[in-house]
Amino acid sequence: MPVPRLNVPRFRMSVPVEPVPRHVAIIMDGNGRWATNRRLPRIEGHRRGVETVRTTTFAARDLGVRMLTLYAFSIENWRRPQDEVGALMGLLEYYLKRELETFIRERVRLRTIGRTDELPAGVQEVLRSTVEATRHFTDYTLVLALNYGSRTEVVDAARANAAAVASGREKLNDGSWATFNRYLYSADMPDPDLVIRTSGETRMSNFLLLQAAYAEFVFLPILWPDFSKADLAGAIAEYGHRERRFGRTSAQLLAPARVVAE
Ligand code: FPP
Repeated sequence: MPVPRLNVPRFRMSVPVEPVPRHVAIIMDGNGRWATNRRLPRIEGHRRGVETVRTTTFAARDLGVRMLTLYAFSIENWRRPQDEVGALMGLLEYYLKRELETFIRERVRLRTIGRTDELPAGVQEVLRSTVEATRHFTDYTLVLALNYGSRTEVVDAARANAAAVASGREKLNDGSWATFNRYLYSADMPDPDLVIRTSGETRMSNFLLLQAAYAEFVFLPILWPDFSKADLAGAIAEYGHRERRFGRTSAQLLAPARVVAE
């Protein structure tokens, strides 16, 4: 039986999207491979990765991004060899001490997500002072995901929510997403619009699983130490071509003024 043809008007797609994502989140991957390719110890890859953190922080701001979240240490990263974990913590402390002056001069707010209270005391101290010294900046925020994992975040949020219900501060029957969201580490952050992963891997690795529910994803075959401003600009350009529907249809997104009949 012939399939009936629907008489639907055809439109040239012209969907209004924000050309620049407000919040970009990056899974920085490939430091180890970058080093191994050069017969260098893995820590050299992480050292170069720190330089890329620095350039990317300002590249994102220059391109109009308002918030940048970097997956710097996952809750699973403790499983790495002890000397690599120690070196990563040392690099983090060195980076934060070195950047404090720049953050203040450039008006960058630093904040974190994750179980930072389980990080070494020296890292916690420099994190605390940097977050405090930059908390009044409002134009641009760098978020470091440290000792972060989405599943742990949900467990922590559920526990905090249950405690609030038990103490009468929260009603049990208010089971809305908006309420639960208030217990996530990212409570006062906008959801990421664009998630980038470097190194060619195409996994989420327990990163912002709930917050990225409607994010666009760009996976790049570039190792993190080689990631440049041009690569970021390319990912943002790709984002600008995506149609973000949030459950709606394409036709619903077409504002009448932008619909152009073929
Ligand atoms: C992944 O590369 C990267 C990490 C596990 C950590 C990212 C850390 C940095 C960029 C440096 C420290 C960060 C800050 C903010 C100072 P990988 O080691 O998994 O690479 P591979 O997959 O090639 O082995």
